[in-house]
Amino acid sequence: MNAQPRRVENIATDRGVIPQYATGVVEQPWSSYTREDHAVWATLFERQRALLPGRACPAFLEAQRMLGFAADAIPRFDTLSRGLRRATGWTLVGVEGLLPEAVFFEHLASRRFPVTWWIRRADQLDYIAEPDLFHDLFGHVPLLMNPVFADYMQAYGRGGLRAQRQFGAEALLNLTRLYWYTVEFGLIREAQGLRIYGAGIVSSKGESVYALDSPAPNRIGFDLERVMRTRYRIDSYQKTYFVINGFDELFAATQQDFAPIYPRLAGTESIPAGAVLECDRVLHRGTREGWPEGADA
Ligand code: PHE
Ligand code: CO
Repeated sequence: MNAQPRRVENIATDRGVIPQYATGVVEQPWSSYTREDHAVWATLFERQRALLPGRACPAFLEAQRMLGFAADAIPRFDTLSRGLRRATGWTLVGVEGLLPEAVFFEHLASRRFPVTWWIRRADQLDYIAEPDLFHDLFGHVPLLMNPVFADYMQAYGRGGLRAQRQFGAEALLNLTRLYWYTVEFGLIREAQGLRIYGAGIVSSKGESVYALDSPAPNRIGFDLERVMRTRYRIDSYQKTYFVINGFDELFAATQQDFAPIYPRLAGTESIPAGAVLECDRVLHRGTREGWPEGADA
């Protein structure tokens, strides 16, 4: 048996049963990881590390090296936190799983990154519906070593708290889309070509190839309000990837006050995940091959 998360309860909703986790910070129970847990880490780690040179952006690859990520064992949050704190002032905190938005924003605003302490089972290597330790650590933590990206993440947390207090559900949806299309599924244009920086891509074997190589999805230049209006799919690879020219550009675009943006967006239609608009800077127009009918919804 591998170490399992503590579920507080299962809540029935209109989207099915959703597990609800304790929202407090937990100590990483490092000595309770089984051989199977460490073996899952090693397998996923080696698989992605073989795939990512030439695909992940240099800042990501360089940060994994600096943090001393290795295949042999699940990293200790404490050790990683020491390196992060020295570089950019971020600290990792262990959590049971996905947090309520308010709690998540609080952590980010205080430069704390919540990491799920448990790792997926060996029969979930290719797909797991919720974030686990591999996704959070391997995917998200490296870029927290980058000073600009580190500041962006904190600004996002602060912006989330503010949106929650002053704006409401629709503003939060706009912010969630921004997070989705940057932090989770962002692409970046480097001197050598397109590269991945999104954690949801770098932690997925299938999508780290698909996002760059498949002709099917759109690749469109990042535009803040365009992204904030775009719906997304959680049950398939992305229909559209948004491409930034650098973390400076992303940070600069989000420095402006969103207060006038939220009400403006509230008056517009949301955009289907696979749509291409007149105003888009299209780097690649997706062929949509292999998409089921209506897949761009
Ligand atoms: N500038 C945003 C605001 O005024 C905050 C924010 C920064 C949101 C970075 C997302 C990312 O609310
Ligand atoms: Co994530």
